Amino acid sequence: MNNPKSPLIYVAGHRGMVGSAIVRRLVAQGHPADRIITRTHAELELTEQAAVRAFLAKEKPDQVYLAAAKVGGIHANNSYPAEFIYDNLMVEANLVHESFRAGVGKLLFLGSSCIYPKLAAQPMNEDALLTGKLEPTNEPYAIAKIAGIKLCESYNRQYGASHGVDYRSVMPTNLYGPGDNYHPQNSHVVPALIRRFHEAKASGAPTVTLWGTGTPLREFLHVDDMAAASVFVMNLPKAVYDQQTQPMQSHLNVGFGSDLSIRALAETIARVVGYTGAIAVDPAQPDGTPRKLMDSRRLNALGWQPSIPLEQGLAGAYADFLQHHAAPAHPA
Ligand SMILES: NC(=O)c1ccc[n+]([C@@H]2O[C@H](COP(=O)([O-])OP(=O)(O)OC[C@H]3O[C@@H](n4cnc5c(N)ncnc54)[C@H](OP(=O)(O)O)[C@@H]3O)[C@@H](O)[C@H]2O)c1
Repeated sequence: MNNPKSPLIYVAGHRGMVGSAIVRRLVAQGHPADRIITRTHAELELTEQAAVRAFLAKEKPDQVYLAAAKVGGIHANNSYPAEFIYDNLMVEANLVHESFRAGVGKLLFLGSSCIYPKLAAQPMNEDALLTGKLEPTNEPYAIAKIAGIKLCESYNRQYGASHGVDYRSVMPTNLYGPGDNYHPQNSHVVPALIRRFHEAKASGAPTVTLWGTGTPLREFLHVDDMAAASVFVMNLPKAVYDQQTQPMQSHLNVGFGSDLSIRALAETIARVVGYTGAIAVDPAQPDGTPRKLMDSRRLNALGWQPSIPLEQGLAGAYADFLQHHAAPAHPA
C-alpha cells in the first residue's frame, strides 16, 4: 500500500547479490514495495550520464542505494582493467552527480575492503585509507571505489549545508549468501568451496584439496547482515553518523568481527554439505596475504552487530546453491 510517509528508494544493482538483499531487507522491515524503484541493467545503463539524468529527474527518489558495480575475481580484474576502472567510475560519478541534481538527499555507496593498502595493519581500520600501495591485481577497481568515497565526501562538503546532501559509504568485508556467483572458475572462496564439496560428495571423491596451506585468516559476512547494516547506516541520524566519521574520512567498515582459517572454513562447509571425505592442502600453491580482517568497531559503536553465525549462514547459502545452481541428480 502506498504510504506517502515512506521515502521513495532507488536500489541500483537490485539483481545483484547485495542489491537484492537490500530490497529483501527493506521489504522485510515493512517498506512498501511500491516505494522501491528498480531498473535492470538492460533497462538503464548506469555508465550513460544522459540516461541516468533522465531517470533520476523523472523518478526523484528520496534515497539511493548504490549497489551496482562491475565486480569480478582476480582473473577478470587482470584481464579487463580498463572496464573495471571506467565502468565503476562512470556508474558512481553519474549516480552521485545526477542524484545531487535531482535533489536526492541521502545516498549510500557500497565499496569494498580492497580500498585499503595491501600491507595495511590488521585488523584494518578506516584510517588506513590512502596510507600505502594497493594490491596491484585489483588496483583499478580499488581506485574507482576510493573515488566513490571521495565523490560522496566532496558533495557533502560542498552541498551538505546548502542543499541537505548526506551521502555515506560502507565498506563490506567478504560476503556470501543467496545470489552468490558459483561459477566453477571465477568465484570467491565460499561459493567455490560449496561447489567443490558438493561435487566431491556427489562423486564420492575421497579427498578435497585446498589451494595453499589453508592457514590464511579471512573474515566472512552473510549478505543479509550486509543489507541490514546498509539500511541501518542509511537511516542513522546525521549527528549520530558524524560521531564516528569525519568530513574527509566518512566511510564505515562492515565486517563480521572475527576471522577463521581457510582450513576451518573448509571444515565448516564440509559439515554443512555433508561431505565426510578428507581435506588436504597444497602448500605449493600461493596463499595470498596471511590475514585480512576489517576493524568494524566504529559501526559497532553506533549500535550495529551482525546476527547470522557463520555455520547457519553457510547452511542457507548451500540451500540456495542446491535450489539454483546444483545440476539435477541423474538416476543411476
Ligand atoms: N560480493 C562480495 O563479496 C562483496 C564484497 C565487498 C563489497 N562488495 C560490493 O558490493 C557491491 C555489489 O556487489 P555484488 O556482489 O552484489 O555484485 P553483483 O552481484 O555483480 O551485482 C552488481 C549489479 O550491478 C549491475 N550493474 C553493473 N554494472 C552496471 C551498469 N553499468 N549499469 C547498470 N547496472 C549495472 C549488475 O547488472 P548485470 O549483472 O546485468 O551487469 C548487477 O546486477 C559492489 O560495489 C561490490 O564492490 C561485494
